[in-house]
Amino acid sequence: MKTILVTGAAGGVATRVRPWLREHYNLRLLDLREAGGLAANETAIAGDMTDRDVVQQTTQGVDGILHLACTYSLDIDFEATLDANYRAQLYLLDACREFGIGRFVFASSHHVLGQHRVEGFAGDDAPVAPDGFYALSKVFGEAACALYAHRHGLKALSIRIGNADEQVADERRQHIWVSGRDLAQLIRIGLEHEDITHDVVYGVSRCPAPFFHNGRAVALGYAPQDSAVDHLAPAFLAREAMPPSAGPGFVGGPYVPQPLLVRTPR
Ligand SMILES: NC(=O)c1ccc[n+]([C@@H]2O[C@H](COP(=O)([O-])OP(=O)(O)OC[C@H]3O[C@@H](n4cnc5c(N)ncnc54)[C@H](O)[C@@H]3O)[C@@H](O)[C@H]2O)c1
Repeated sequence: MKTILVTGAAGGVATRVRPWLREHYNLRLLDLREAGGLAANETAIAGDMTDRDVVQQTTQGVDGILHLACTYSLDIDFEATLDANYRAQLYLLDACREFGIGRFVFASSHHVLGQHRVEGFAGDDAPVAPDGFYALSKVFGEAACALYAHRHGLKALSIRIGNADEQVADERRQHIWVSGRDLAQLIRIGLEHEDITHDVVYGVSRCPAPFFHNGRAVALGYAPQDSAVDHLAPAFLAREAMPPSAGPGFVGGPYVPQPLLVRTPR
């Protein structure tokens, strides 16, 4: 079995995809806190990926990296994103170059397109329109993947994840929801498919009136198994019931009405 380093391995997305991935890979699980619920072929490491020594130690000997860890909040300021979302990603990509790691799967986000209005949205091919500093860091992350793919031959897949919650909370998320099983299928495409340079796909299951048709993912063999309509939360909010703070008219929802904060470093 190949060994894959998973960053952010104690987080929500990792917890949902690990059961599907560990059937195929040994997983080395990196997070600030030790990930729980370990299977026999999973190893947990508590460490901070913003420390380059930690990245160097934990990447040696792996066949690929699934990069999920990041810092985010609705109103995160630019300075707060720098270490985890910019520097650490470059440390990881540069470790791929240094140690000959051939695969990198990056958890990007639909928020790179978040500022687009839902009405008339162009979907897969819409130009980037990040809805805040979290989203801006994802645009950087994708570009950094492209840099290492084209410069060093790394095969990288950026997955613009829609919404990976257990249940679908509202109508906006109904258009972009993804199950753990379907996301794991996309991750495996990123770790295995030969026809990847740096490709961008959408982390979405079968959704009614989908924001994304996910043409590139389908071309790479993606066939989602799960459907958003089968996972509606009991308190599901239709669009008319969503408050303005939820940004119902925008692809990025609640991130859009937030202030943009650039703080000066102390
Ligand atoms: N959950 C979603 O619906 C969703 C949607 C779009 C994109 N994403 C992306 O998927 C990824 C995972 O999201 P999630 O919902 O699991 O988030 P999460 O907050 O549940 O998990 C992130 C994990 O990263 C870890 N982490 C943060 N900084 C770290 C550091 N310096 N070193 C090591 N570990 C660190 C945290 O401890 C946490 O366990 C993120 O990159 C996120 O942007 C998630």
